Amino acid sequence: MGHSHAFLKRFQGSVTARDRMQILRQKPITIWLTGLSGAGKSTIAFELERQLVSLGRACYVLDGDNIRHGLACDLSFDRKDRRENIRRVAHVAQLMNDAGLIVITALISPMREDRAMARDIIGAGQFIETYLSASVDTCADRDPKGLYAKARAGEIASFTGVSAAYEAPSDPELRIDTATQTPAESVAHIFAYLRDNCLANPACVEASS
Ligand code: ADX
Repeated sequence: MGHSHAFLKRFQGSVTARDRMQILRQKPITIWLTGLSGAGKSTIAFELERQLVSLGRACYVLDGDNIRHGLACDLSFDRKDRRENIRRVAHVAQLMNDAGLIVITALISPMREDRAMARDIIGAGQFIETYLSASVDTCADRDPKGLYAKARAGEIASFTGVSAAYEAPSDPELRIDTATQTPAESVAHIFAYLRDNCLANPACVEASS
């Protein structure tokens, strides 16, 4: 990342995180979903968003396939570009959190050190690493986009789980087995975590502010 920022200073406005929290009545967090293609990231992200919005939470999904049409349209799937993809999305999530929104990201984000970078950018207190666990064979059986068949036939290079690595999280905040749970059960599992940690309930926010 190459440019010198020696002559750049941050300008600090007077609106605080607490001001924004009181307007939106929620704690801004990033639920960082990670897992193989076909593990259920997008399905779970958008269903979680729907349920949070129906409860009056201001929430936004940053989905890998969608982001790669715009913000990351210049990036490939090699090691370096995936890291850059994650860096950009982590900064957008951090800005959205700063604006008061709840963010759900749905990126494969296969490398541990890249997810650690995302945690640093977003802030450990706001970052909920959520591992959607399903084996390569399970995801390849589902193959919703037909990509595993193509990857196994050698038509897609560096495909995660086939010809590129996926490093499972060793210590995620949440681990969900999407091979045995339905998307609805997985979403309920995430909700239970938010409730237990006082993250989705405005009464908790008001009590702590
Ligand atoms: S990440 O590795 O940089 O986090 P991201 O989540 O943005 O990946 O994009 C993954 C999506 O891109 C997959 O769901 C799939 O639809 C598509 N895709 C295309 N080529 C590849 C590839 N080589 N490996 C993984 N996914 C790919």
